[in-house]
Amino acid sequence: MTKIDLNKLPRHIAIIMDGNGRWAQQHTIGRIRGHKKGAESVRTVVRACREIGIKYLTLFAFSQENWERPENEVKALMLLLEEYLTKEIEELQEQGIRLVTIGETGLLNSSVREKLQRAKETTAKNDKMILNLALSYGGRDEIIHAVKKIIDDKEKGKVDINKITKDDFSNYLYTSGMPDPDLLIRTSGEYRISNFLLWQTAYTELYFTNVLWPDFTKDDLLKAIASYQQRERRFGLTSEQLKEKLTSE
Ligand code: FPP
Repeated sequence: MTKIDLNKLPRHIAIIMDGNGRWAQQHTIGRIRGHKKGAESVRTVVRACREIGIKYLTLFAFSQENWERPENEVKALMLLLEEYLTKEIEELQEQGIRLVTIGETGLLNSSVREKLQRAKETTAKNDKMILNLALSYGGRDEIIHAVKKIIDDKEKGKVDINKITKDDFSNYLYTSGMPDPDLLIRTSGEYRISNFLLWQTAYTELYFTNVLWPDFTKDDLLKAIASYQQRERRFGLTSEQLKEKLTSE
């Protein structure tokens, strides 16, 4: 197993779980079975993150664009999500993991919404790790949604537009209250952000791997964390400034 420094963990990991379809193709089976195997990787990675001590894990489970996929694939993805919510709730509870979501979850069917609601309520008090599922999520729409809320608050006299800071704006996003991701992993050899967490990933370290999501293991996660730990996050400063800042803190 790849070695990592437990004192230098990313607080928040976000993952674009890509490659289920290609994995299925490689195994000459249907795409849906690829998603099924992908759901197993979700279990593995949630467990591993909890074990390692990651505080926030955000998974891109269903994008706004995914609604355009063939109807049977959308249905299968929804069923897998329901199955996950039903089967995993006990383990999430045992492990002290709180489930939250980001995205237009109102667009999900009522059966999924009910299960999500139940899972959220059941795990609401857990504080060991936050599992954040991005569902019917699109980054640009999230920003528009935030802008509309700000306009609404302005009309109610609740906000002074001229005084809005970056932190204030962050609080209007679905991820309000969560730290920005420190590390974003994308599997399957694609080098894109695909409308995921556009505002939040401004200073996130990006990690791309050729491994297809259904093949992604705990060791692949450790490799991504090890790569993150070798990087110097300067946030626009010079190395020297950064060292000074860190020693003065
Ligand atoms: C990308 O693979 C993956 C998705 C569109 C959905 C992700 C869903 C899962 C991992 C399973 C269910 C999730 C949970 C939370 C239980 P793709 O179909 O785009 O792959 P391709 O690019 O190879 O076709």
